[in-house]
Amino acid sequence: MAKPKVFVTRKLAQEALDLISRETQMEVWPGELPPERETLLDKVRDADGLLSLLTDSIDAELMDAAPKLIVISNYAVGYDNVDLGEATRRGIVVGNTPGVLTETTADMAFALLMASARRLAEGHEYILKGRWRTWGPMVLLGQDIHGATLGIIGLGRIGAEMAKRARGFNMRILYHGPHRKSEQLEKELGATYVPELSDLLSAADFISIHVPLTPSTTGLIGAAEFDMMKKNAVLINTSRGGIVDQKALGQALESGRIFAAGLDVTAVEPIPRDDPLLTLKNVIITPHISSASVKTRTKMAMMAAENLLAGVKGELPPNCVNPEAVNR
Ligand code: DGY
Repeated sequence: MAKPKVFVTRKLAQEALDLISRETQMEVWPGELPPERETLLDKVRDADGLLSLLTDSIDAELMDAAPKLIVISNYAVGYDNVDLGEATRRGIVVGNTPGVLTETTADMAFALLMASARRLAEGHEYILKGRWRTWGPMVLLGQDIHGATLGIIGLGRIGAEMAKRARGFNMRILYHGPHRKSEQLEKELGATYVPELSDLLSAADFISIHVPLTPSTTGLIGAAEFDMMKKNAVLINTSRGGIVDQKALGQALESGRIFAAGLDVTAVEPIPRDDPLLTLKNVIITPHISSASVKTRTKMAMMAAENLLAGVKGELPPNCVNPEAVNR
């Protein structure tokens, strides 16, 4: 019997590609940049399986172009780039990569928190620009991290790991989300539930976003929310850029309404070179690298490979976000 055909939209860890290629007719997009839309539509034409990245828009048009497609394995925990409703309606199972990137992402969120609070990027630039002429009592004063209040929006896997890191810095931890977590978890993390987002925003010195991008979280943090924050507040976003109204963020940073921001994600990625945020000193922006450690990216690739292979065999991917698709 012919092996199933799969298209992988970028080069991944070799061991994952080896695993896939043993059981399928695999084609891997060789470019550093994602395939152009027309190319992608063409490549999926006779594919049974697709291994996609968050840079690929997997929508109804793509699924129309891929009549044989039975599995989409997304190499990310987030899957807002996939039209899940369309996939489910067509009986296409969708896999993602939860768990393996939790701690690496929380490490990055905490790194951004520390770098923003203590103005690390500014300090480095200060030296590069030859401005370090002496030790000064008022030079590059930042915010204390220890003993401050951290407000976590979304106490899921990554949010909980963020809380663990914050405990080590003796921070007070508040969290907000649609549902209160168990008392046991709250106790373990030392986290207090705040039912109203506005109360968290007005109490926190640091606010870290850990919710997925959905219609209800799009633009969750906008001008009104920045107005509720403390003047010394630092906003951290390692989730998805669309959760924050970037124009409002720029205004809040420029006017000194909040102290700083650390972003690993932006509304448009890559952020355009002429985006006003890039002219501000009190924001650190990294290029969506929160899960980018060698070990984690390998684990993600293996997990995505396993999801893909299960899917093309007609089995439920081990990490499937729409198991209900199976009965369609
Ligand atoms: C994800 O997995 O959703 C991250 O954004 C990339 O690792």
